[in-house]
Amino acid sequence: MKKLIIEGGVPLKGIVSASGAKNAVLPVIAAALLSNGVSYIDDTPWLADVRTMCRTLEQMGVRSDYQKGLLALDSAGLCETCAPEEFVRRMRASFLLMGPILSRMGQVKMSLPGGCAIGSRPIDLHLKGFEAMGAEIVLGNGYIDARAKRLKGARIYLDFPSVGATENIMMAASLAEGNTIIENAAEEPEIVDLAIFLGAMGAKIKGAGTKIIRIEGVTSLSPARHSVIPDRVEAGTFMMAAAATGGSVIIDNVIEEHLKSVSAKLQETGSSVTENYGSIKVTAGGHISASDVKTMPYPGFPTDMQAQIMVHLAQADGCSVITETIFENRFMHVGELRKMGADIKIEGHSAVVNGVPRLRAAKLRATDLRAGGAMIIAALAAEGVSEITHLQHLERGYENICQKLASLGASIKVVEE
Ligand code: EPZ
Repeated sequence: MKKLIIEGGVPLKGIVSASGAKNAVLPVIAAALLSNGVSYIDDTPWLADVRTMCRTLEQMGVRSDYQKGLLALDSAGLCETCAPEEFVRRMRASFLLMGPILSRMGQVKMSLPGGCAIGSRPIDLHLKGFEAMGAEIVLGNGYIDARAKRLKGARIYLDFPSVGATENIMMAASLAEGNTIIENAAEEPEIVDLAIFLGAMGAKIKGAGTKIIRIEGVTSLSPARHSVIPDRVEAGTFMMAAAATGGSVIIDNVIEEHLKSVSAKLQETGSSVTENYGSIKVTAGGHISASDVKTMPYPGFPTDMQAQIMVHLAQADGCSVITETIFENRFMHVGELRKMGADIKIEGHSAVVNGVPRLRAAKLRATDLRAGGAMIIAALAAEGVSEITHLQHLERGYENICQKLASLGASIKVVEE
């Protein structure tokens, strides 16, 4: 088992580039199955989740090749409609394959999805969409089986603006007969990016990025080439690390618009944030002011940045209340921060964070992907040498994070346990 050794107390300084977005490339990979040929995805981050998705597709007849950021996917060979259980259980995003396979092959069978332990994460809204489009869904012994000769366009209201359900339904509707309207759709930038790729394939989609998305089904889609948007969560993690360590960092290869809520919160806590076209500079203020945070669907403060800002606020002057409205179990990082001397009380969906002057180094574990990012920030900010284990969570969503942080002056290394 590998672990990270981090010597904290060094203010991060310099320039770092964000990679392509994990949460944009995973749905785009799934969408490539809607065509019968070779699609190319530029700026693909070489992450464990991307490798898992590619291995899943290899077992279903789809060949993939990755060279320096360019992923080629040949979906002509898709011959299997049952996704291999070991991969689906490992990664919830595998479920994004359901819409494309169902609409291209007329049937699909998958085990119930797995993924991070951040709550139950049901898939009822995905299934509601497929059923509304005429799919027959059978649930039994941990499997979902869906069939439909050809999906029909429908009007679908999402009880919650689920990112995955919006993506899955948008992909399935692209080849359905007739028009589909998704109401109360998620508005995340990754939805817009997926719609751009689908449009390049010949899909007819309007309104992506708003609450109402209209899709006019077509009879076939062609392979396409697409470059995914930069990873706003990775960039946000570096922004928080700069602020929490008292440093000054430029993050380039970002779309500043996607980070408005994160930039605003950092400014409220006393950091200076300046946007330049395609880059954001964060310089820590003399002290950290407390500020309340509530996670919301985009464009609100992202749940994927909740653990990271908690670390920053754990060293603020005063009390901050962080409310998590998206997932019911996304405070697993609190126990780890308490080991470092953080003063945090959980009250229902909120964490009451009383800032302390300085976190102390400790032996930490990454409890899930974004909590792992938060542990790194905490170790970088704390006095002393910390260790972080369970790195498999980090490898899912942060490309070359050690090298990137070391280039900013961090004392960070990976060792065998
Ligand atoms: C996507 O997950 C992201 N993952 C998550 O990022 C992100 O946290 C999440 O959106 C919210 O922004 C990818 O894009 C691969 P949801 P997803 O469906 O699609 C409930 C990361 O760290 N829900 O918007 O699974 C669900 O239980 C990951 O990169 C239903 O009730 O999120 C949750 O409480 C973590 N029924 C809420 O909606 C459904 O059918 C948000 O889920 C679907 C979801």
